Amino acid sequence: MNDTGPDPSPWFRIRAASPEDALAVDTVRTAGWRHAYRGVVPDAVLDGMTPDPPRRRRQLADPGPGGFDYLAESGGRVIGWVSAGPVRDSDLSTAVQEVYACYVHPDQWGHGVGAALLTTALGTLTGRPGVPEVVLWVLEGNGRARRFYERHGFTPDGTRRLLPPGRVPGDVAEVRYVHATRAPHHGDV
Ligand SMILES: CC(C)(COP(=O)(O)OP(=O)(O)OC[C@H]1O[C@@H](n2cnc3c(N)ncnc32)[C@H](O)[C@@H]1OP(=O)(O)O)[C@@H](O)C(=O)NCCC(=O)NCCS
Repeated sequence: MNDTGPDPSPWFRIRAASPEDALAVDTVRTAGWRHAYRGVVPDAVLDGMTPDPPRRRRQLADPGPGGFDYLAESGGRVIGWVSAGPVRDSDLSTAVQEVYACYVHPDQWGHGVGAALLTTALGTLTGRPGVPEVVLWVLEGNGRARRFYERHGFTPDGTRRLLPPGRVPGDVAEVRYVHATRAPHHGDV
């Protein structure tokens, strides 16, 4: 052990998610909502949440054209999940890509798992030809996640919307962040 930097041998691995991971992924997502969104989303919504494996299984089995899901696994346990693919917002170019969700189980926060998931997803998205930028939506009151994304190069683009009241009542707002990718220039090697 030394204090010169992070441990070079990761204690978790990133892999593609499969439909069989549905319950584990939704367990991480539910725990993330309950911890991160307390005080932002009404308690009744958070306390009423339960994992929905059939729905998640369908999403993991068919993430749509260009969509993908990675997870972080440690000792056989799923501890994080990221979902991404082409942007869903009609006001942006279809070449733009989006991080749809990024969740780490709260008992694993602060150890670099989120960074590894986000970096891996960004690598896949920005490796696609002609991608001008990557966007994501985050709850306006989710300060921890906003700082996390800002540290990873995202900035707010000034777009704000309310979550559908049928899903989350109480005027809960989310804001859009953008991460510009560098367009290749002639002469680049
Ligand atoms: C946002 C979220 C994904 C971040 O995941 P995470 O695994 O905690 O992220 P990281 O560990 O990479 O980074 C978070 C902090 O840990 C620190 N950290 C990273 N690696 C570390 C390590 N090896 N040792 C100690 N600290 C470390 C980072 O510097 C950062 O610290 P800071 O906030 O004081 O700057 C996680 O908090 C989460 O799932 N939140 C709930 C869901 C959510 O809000 N998702 C975003 C909207 S979809």
